Amino acid sequence: MKIAIVYDSSTGTTAKAAEAMGKMMTEQGHQCRVQPWEQADPALVSDSDLICFGSWVKGLFVIMQRPTEASMRFMERLGDLTGKQAVVFCTYTLAAGSTLEQMARGLEKKGAQVVGQFKYRSSKPTDDFTSFVKSLA
Ligand SMILES: Cc1cc2nc3c(=O)[nH]c(=O)nc-3n(C[C@H](O)[C@H](O)[C@H](O)COP(=O)(O)O)c2cc1C
Repeated sequence: MKIAIVYDSSTGTTAKAAEAMGKMMTEQGHQCRVQPWEQADPALVSDSDLICFGSWVKGLFVIMQRPTEASMRFMERLGDLTGKQAVVFCTYTLAAGSTLEQMARGLEKKGAQVVGQFKYRSSKPTDDFTSFVKSLA
């Protein structure tokens, strides 16, 4: 499967999580490209079989949590994702609120089917992500 992992990271946690996710997917035999949104080409990302998008959680810690503006703007630049699968993930410290749902809605608006939503309190992907990778065709 051709997989694109794109992320927005300010202090490196989400970047490390994205790299770890990419490593696990590559080890399962997938062709995986991991990039910060600043370097990613929306057309190439849209051309993948599975698109994974990650953001850090921005808010007032207990309320108003959301993905970064840059994340949502990048998603808007993606092409038609009808027939594509997508995953959203975020890193946070206290509470992620509806961050993942907001990201999922952004990709669904483009036609993607969101098949996984993962939140991490560190840069280490959680066990449910490990199970998800094993379930990929
Ligand atoms: C301005 C700002 C707002 C934040 N708001 C939240 C929040 O509402 N909830 C939360 O759990 N973490 C919040 N965080 C913590 C970050 O989401 C968390 O540290 C994240 O892992 C950082 O990812 P990065 O290293 O990829 O930038 C906030 C951090 C900053 C700098």
